[in-house]
Amino acid sequence: MRRTGNKTIVPFKAKIVEPIRLLPRAERIERIIAAGLNLFNLESRDVYIDLLTDSGTGAMSAQQLGAAMMGDESYAGSRSFERLAENFSRITGLPYVIPAHQGRGAERVLNSVLVKKHQIVPGNSHFDTTKAHIEFSGGRCIDCTIQAGKSSQELHPFKGNLDLVALRQAVEEYGAKHVAYVLITVTCNSGGGQPVSMQNMREVSAYARSRGIAVYLDVARFAENAFFIKEREEGYADKSIAEIVFEMFSYADGCTMSAKKDGIVPMGGLIGVRDQGLFEALKTPTILFEGFFTYGGMSGMTMEALATGLEEVLDEDYLRYRVGQVAQLGAWLEEEGVPIVRPVGGHAVFIDGRLFFPDIPEDEFPAQAVCVELYKEGGVRAVEIGSNLIGRNPDTGENIRPAMDLCRLTIPRRVYSSEHLEHVVDAAKTVLDGQHSRSRGLAFLKEAQGIRHFASTFREL
Ligand code: F0G
Repeated sequence: MRRTGNKTIVPFKAKIVEPIRLLPRAERIERIIAAGLNLFNLESRDVYIDLLTDSGTGAMSAQQLGAAMMGDESYAGSRSFERLAENFSRITGLPYVIPAHQGRGAERVLNSVLVKKHQIVPGNSHFDTTKAHIEFSGGRCIDCTIQAGKSSQELHPFKGNLDLVALRQAVEEYGAKHVAYVLITVTCNSGGGQPVSMQNMREVSAYARSRGIAVYLDVARFAENAFFIKEREEGYADKSIAEIVFEMFSYADGCTMSAKKDGIVPMGGLIGVRDQGLFEALKTPTILFEGFFTYGGMSGMTMEALATGLEEVLDEDYLRYRVGQVAQLGAWLEEEGVPIVRPVGGHAVFIDGRLFFPDIPEDEFPAQAVCVELYKEGGVRAVEIGSNLIGRNPDTGENIRPAMDLCRLTIPRRVYSSEHLEHVVDAAKTVLDGQHSRSRGLAFLKEAQGIRHFASTFREL
């Protein structure tokens, strides 16, 4: 039993449980080979601790389930949408709300209206679906994340920040007219769940507005970002999470939200905007792609649970526990010598694959090899965010070499206990201790086209 570190209280207890089991080692090895060494191909019943994602995997509260029973399933004018929109507007200050089935649905609708052919969208390490939707609308993403955000070991309190010099350069190079908008992702998932400071949002927004450019936020993990601001940024220690969240949104013209993260619901998404004209323009694509604009792919039950989830996630005790639990896992792994991205982000601990398996060549997918070994050793399912995910350069066909090759241990909200996480640490330590025998990594058995990490299969070299 590890006893260091996290002294925060856990502000809930379990009321409903779901059985899980650890398969015997021989069966785990059989399963992962049958899955083509791709953890997306595993059956969830064969996974003991599922750290694939924090998206839609959180545990709902009794209050959320109670609220869900009040769901109004009317096709148009649902009372549940009214409650959801009211809560969302009160929390964010954004007056107009469009529902979507999940984050990427919201992204598709918004980008179909905002992005014109050949325009650019500067931002901080755009999430993959976001990038894909911007490109689908004919636009291009320019990554303006600060340099520290691209290193796994450099310490910086806000590694999700945008580099204002890079942003200005991009705007000068393309011309303000060719900038569809600036996107700030809070927290920055692709950069390791790293937060963005209030000062950075304020400065990016002031600059963008001075050039007549709109600013949008990708707010999948907005409350976790607000908690980091409270903990780390001068002047915010005495502000409530609600006040910090409100200020964050004040710097934006709108947002897209995957509600499956900080909304703590299995499914759902939202768009919020300030401009009534834009709101009207979003209605038609919403009807085409998502559903009528008072449900957008969510059931009344989901909308009620989300309306309550958005209130619960602002609770400071919850956020201290949440961010603290992820930090605790990171600290335990570091104590055992496992190389991780530092500082630990809000929703996940990222193991640095290249440092974990220093003898595996970079083109043999070290981070994917870490994921495979963690499953074999402990029935733990992690996900590679690295060379496999990033794919090939569409112009040259060459494999892109990402700045970091990472294995992400993503923590679902309110789901796993310290004992579960200790099991993960023990598995990682055992794999690390045995690494010296490993000097070869993985090669493709079958390389999937497009977003290749879902469907590619591998063999061990
Ligand atoms: N933006 C961010 C920052 C995300 O992390 C995600 C999803 C999305 C948008 C898309 O939202 O899944 O509801 O369509 N991230 C998940 C993950 C899939 O595992 O990190 P979605």
